[in-house]
This record gives sequence, C-alpha cells and structure tokens, in this order.
Amino acid sequence: MSRIVLGVGGGVAAYKSALLLRALTEAGHDVRVVPTASALRFVGAATFEALSGHPVSTEVWDDVPEVAHVRIGQQADLVLISPATADLLARAAAGRADDLLTTTLLTAHCPVVFVPAMHTEMWLHPATQENVATLRRRGSVVLPPAVGRLTGPDSGPGRLPEPADVAALAEVVLAAGPAALTPDLTGRRVVISAGGTREPLDPVRFLGNRSSGRQGWALARVAAARGAEVVLVAANVEQPAPFGVRVVPAGTAEELRTAMLAESPGADVVVMAAAVADFRPSSVAGAKLKKGSAAEPTAVELTRNPDVLVELVAARTAGQLVVGFAAETGDAEGDVLAHARAKLARKGADLLVVNDVSAGRVFGRSDTEVTVLAADGTATPVPPGPKDGVSAGIWDVVSTRLA
Ligand code: CTP
Repeated sequence: MSRIVLGVGGGVAAYKSALLLRALTEAGHDVRVVPTASALRFVGAATFEALSGHPVSTEVWDDVPEVAHVRIGQQADLVLISPATADLLARAAAGRADDLLTTTLLTAHCPVVFVPAMHTEMWLHPATQENVATLRRRGSVVLPPAVGRLTGPDSGPGRLPEPADVAALAEVVLAAGPAALTPDLTGRRVVISAGGTREPLDPVRFLGNRSSGRQGWALARVAAARGAEVVLVAANVEQPAPFGVRVVPAGTAEELRTAMLAESPGADVVVMAAAVADFRPSSVAGAKLKKGSAAEPTAVELTRNPDVLVELVAARTAGQLVVGFAAETGDAEGDVLAHARAKLARKGADLLVVNDVSAGRVFGRSDTEVTVLAADGTATPVPPGPKDGVSAGIWDVVSTRLA
C-alpha cells in the first residue's frame, strides 16, 4: 500500500480521473485527491471524496490547522497528475504555489508523474514543450500523450491515456522509481509480437497455447511511455490496446510472420514476445470434423512452422536490435542459462529474455523474473516483479545497447 496524491487538472479528461482513482484504490493504495478549482467544474468533489474516503479541497485556506499544503506533499509516495493541463504544466514548471496542488508539488520529495491531456496545438506549442522539458530535467516523469480522438470531432496527440494504462505505469514508478519511465525511446520505432498463435484444425478447433499476452502488452505500454512509436502484433489477445500503440492482429504463426516481416524493416527494435506454435496441423478440414463420420480423425499430422525469430534476424536492417524470449527449464543436460545461451546462439538474436519456468512458474501469472542474455555473453538479471516493472528493466538493457 502506497500513499498517492492524485492531482486533477481542469480539462474535460478529468472525467477519467474517477476511474483512475478507483483503479488505484482497488490496487490497495491510499489515495488523496487534490483537484484544481477548474477540475471541480468537470467532476464534483463528492465523487472524489466518496471514492477516495478523504476530504477534498483545492485551496491552502482549507484545513489550515493541519497545514495541509505542506503535509500532503511531504507524506506522499507518489504524486500523479492526471490530467495535466497546459496551465498546470506551466504553473508546475514555473514553481508557482497558488493553490493546494501546486504547493503540494513544491513540498513533495517523492516521484512525480504528469499525464498530459490537451488539444494538439496546445501540446505542440513551444511554451508547453519547454515546460515539459523543464519538468523532465528536474526528474519528473511527463508521459507522452496518446494520439486519438480529442474532445471534439478532431484527433491528434493530446488524448489522455486510459486509466488502466496510467494505473499500471504508476505501479512501475512506485516499484522502480521515475527512471523506469525515462523518455529514452523518443524517436525510436519498436515492433513487438505478443500472445499465442492458434493453428486451425477445422473451422471451429485449433491447437493453441496458454500465453496471455501480458508480457508483450507490458513491454508495449512501457515503451510507449518511454516515448517510442510502438506497433504490437497481437496473436489472439482480447485486451484493449495500450495507449499510443498500434495493434496489428494475427491469428496463426503464418499470419504473425507476415505481419512481423512487414512491420519490422527500419524499426530500431524488434521483440518476439509471442508464443509461436512450432507445429501446425498439416491439413485443415474445410468443414467441422464430426464424431462417427468417415472423416473422424484418429491422429493429427503436424508440419513444422517457420521460425519467425530466425527470419527476422536474417532480415535485420541496419542498426536494428532483434530480441527473443525463451521460457526454459533446467534438466540433466544443463541449467536454464546454459539452454538459453545455446538458444541465443542458434537463433542469432542480439538479446534473449530468459524466463525460468521450472517448478510450477507457469504462463499467465502477473509477476515474473527474467535475465537478459546478450550475444556477447553478458547476462543482466532484472529484479522480479509485475510484468510492467520487469518490462522497464528489459527496456533499460535494450536502451543501453541502442545508445
Ligand atoms: N519463435 C519464433 N517462431 C517459432 C518459434 C519460436 O519466432 N516458430 C520465437 C519466440 O517468439 C521466442 C523465441 O523464438 O522469441 C524462442 O522461442 P522458443 O519456443 O523458446 O524456441 P524454440 O525454437 O521453439 O525452442 P524449443 O525447442 O526449446 O521449444
């Protein structure tokens, strides 16, 4: 349980802050909402008070005996400003102290995350961009806004990321500090595969695997938060796209291969986090296979699928890093790292993210622990934790190699 201050700026996107507040309290955090006076024109104080269980005020003149304007900031583990309007970014960058939220920002020793939302013109204005640069230079996280539908019929960069993405990224900062969301992937193009392929047997049945897609989603979300332009080739994952990420759906290994080979040329980083079926049924029945029919199968003949990672390595463009994943168990022939080193050499990737799945550590869990192996032999352990936090550790290794 952490103490979070949720600062809410006065923009239409303030309506999403109630859902964000809910996500944070359901994750077990103690959340104190500090809106600006304009934010309360969009969402009533009663909503924030009921959902947070704390009183809400906007001015330093409330709660004076408690010296709230100093205490709230000093006691926080995280200050999360969502939405951060152009005005709020400007006041924060200037160090103003004209309401409870800005005084809280001046007294907070903890990480501060701004989640901007505004019209595209306001976001791109040099004044706003300089304020963002100032806040980042001082160590705050300023997330890039999502691209999409804005308040009116227009769209562009400036949209607030969805509450679930913001809540997941808040956890990353609580666990690993603001450096986990440093904007070091700005200007980089990243292509990630996620999920598990399904190989059809007939129109209704398939051979599949248990991959949940969570690791690929977490990698995409954190890369987008660190400034990358992200394409996520998703095999059978029923989850909303992380903010700012373009999702290309794929069903089978063959479809995933086609999509990855089409998206990867010119990308700075290509990550194969998907669980690709090694085999597919050699023939696919055109009609449903029926019990007792002449076509009732007694066995399934399988054909080897192409190795997408090996093909991506062969097609690697200049300066590109190709990253594979491997879930391994130790056995009589070698431990997890020995198997992983052999696999990295066999596939020719630049990096291999190795997950030890011995002893019941199964697919679909939210927590994970990995080691990143490099072709030059270095092995970097990433501290265990939720998949978003581990993704930040993986991007740290990738980012060092890109530089
Ligand atoms: N991979 C791939 N295409 C395949 C199989 C795997 O691109 N047909 C990729 C995975 O996405 C992963 C890496 O290769 O990044 C390692 O996957 P893994 O299943 O461990 O590799 P295999 O070669 O299938 O090894 P094993 O024989 O141990 O299953």
